[in-house]
Amino acid sequence: MSIRLAQWCKNLKTGHRDIDKQHRSLFEMFDSFIMATLKNSGDEKLPSLLEFLVKYSSEHFYYEEQYYRRKNYPKFAHHKKEHEVFTQNLRIIKRKCFKESNSLHVQELNKMLGEWFRNHILQEDLAATRWIEENPSDFYFQPKRLTSKKIAD
Ligand SMILES: [Fe+2]
Ligand SMILES: [Fe+2]
Repeated sequence: MSIRLAQWCKNLKTGHRDIDKQHRSLFEMFDSFIMATLKNSGDEKLPSLLEFLVKYSSEHFYYEEQYYRRKNYPKFAHHKKEHEVFTQNLRIIKRKCFKESNSLHVQELNKMLGEWFRNHILQEDLAATRWIEENPSDFYFQPKRLTSKKIAD
């Protein structure tokens, strides 16, 4: 079943502009892949989806990891591990696609991305951005607050 754009806006928004932009491009790619699958042309779309995912997993994950680390997110290691597992699984599917027919792996990739939306973006990415929002730890922000408190005292 396809997740439509309206649902994306409602459920998958983390509130971080760049992260949301990157998620949205993954969503759009996935959505057009599902549409193609329903029209039985998923295997034609598979190479471009795989190419996109390889680029996405290196650039988007790098972006998130830099951001979460800078903000001292406590579940950073777990989050990074999930990114690594996704990248690893993607490599396995990609390798299999070289050896076998694409159509064998359309459902596999479909399932993998569906789970990624449900289990990673909806849970982990949302939890990370929410935690950062609730626990501001900007290096330049804290000294300013201390200074103004001192003046106020
Ligand atoms: Fe993400
Ligand atoms: Fe993530």
